[in-house]
Amino acid sequence: MNNRPRRLRGNAMVRNMVRETRVDASSLIYPIFVVEGENIKEEIPSMPGQYRYSVDVLPRALNEIADAGVSNVMLFGIPKEKDSVGSGAWAEDGIVQKALRTAKKECPDLYYITDVCMCEYTSHGHCGILNGHDVDNEKTLPVLAKTALSHVQAGADMVAPSDMMDGRVRVIRTILDQNHYTNIPIMSYAVKYASAFYGPFREAADSAPAFGDRKSYQMDFHNRKEARKEVMLDVEEGADIIMVKPALSYLDIVRETAQSISLPVAAYSVSGEYAMIKAAAQAGWVDEEKIVCETAVSVYRAGAGILLTYYAKELAGWIKEGRIG
Ligand code: PBG
Repeated sequence: MNNRPRRLRGNAMVRNMVRETRVDASSLIYPIFVVEGENIKEEIPSMPGQYRYSVDVLPRALNEIADAGVSNVMLFGIPKEKDSVGSGAWAEDGIVQKALRTAKKECPDLYYITDVCMCEYTSHGHCGILNGHDVDNEKTLPVLAKTALSHVQAGADMVAPSDMMDGRVRVIRTILDQNHYTNIPIMSYAVKYASAFYGPFREAADSAPAFGDRKSYQMDFHNRKEARKEVMLDVEEGADIIMVKPALSYLDIVRETAQSISLPVAAYSVSGEYAMIKAAAQAGWVDEEKIVCETAVSVYRAGAGILLTYYAKELAGWIKEGRIG
């Protein structure tokens, strides 16, 4: 036989030599939730092992993240007070702004990305300003821009708009440039589907919509070509990194996006993906480490160069120990 694929599978050394996908902890981003209050580290019921931290205990959590070998975090804020326009999102003493100032001072070696959206801050839980029951695109753009600017002024290294309003990357790029933050990159949640996989996050961030759903702004998961349109628009508007979200059910979209653009592509393995693996592992039905490694590799193999995951600390540890390549 001329061709015997098994020749390159005979032992671990040759398998490692010919491996096509290699993972690197520097491409991991760990999402973390910050709440108002003091001395709070409360576990999120639907995401065992993930916590909401108050700002005073945040540095301890950040040091653990850095010690685990993860260098990038994505911050989500949960304010005490919400209102119809989500004014906590851009407040000088808003939760993310306070968290950033503390984090940059106490743990300056981490890279801080912030999620820019209104849903954690609005009393109705939608990702923008309402006009009746509809989220008004044009009214929402200026508040998103204001929010992104206030994050950067508080120390964010990168901003990541996740609201799915049309034209938000352009207004954020414009306001950052006008304020001389020309070198702050934008990671756009460009391809974000309306997904049931966000369920546990909405419990964590107390951000479930009070009525209706997000289908008038997030994408319909039956669509593939529409992803190309969203990506193209965000590239034109000045996005630096394009994100696809969720990850696991959308690897076809990750692949196509990675093949069609020259920008870095990130994939967000969301709360529901974490919760499913965690629950099955806790029941003893799957091997957690093996499943997490296999799913993470699949996202990189599909073409993502960056992975946002609640398993970032564990993955970084397994990478360091050579348990995942
Ligand atoms: C804010 C936002 C959401 C997530 C990231 N940013 C929730 C949503 O759109 O409802 C989901 C993250 C996750 O599920 O892990 N809009």
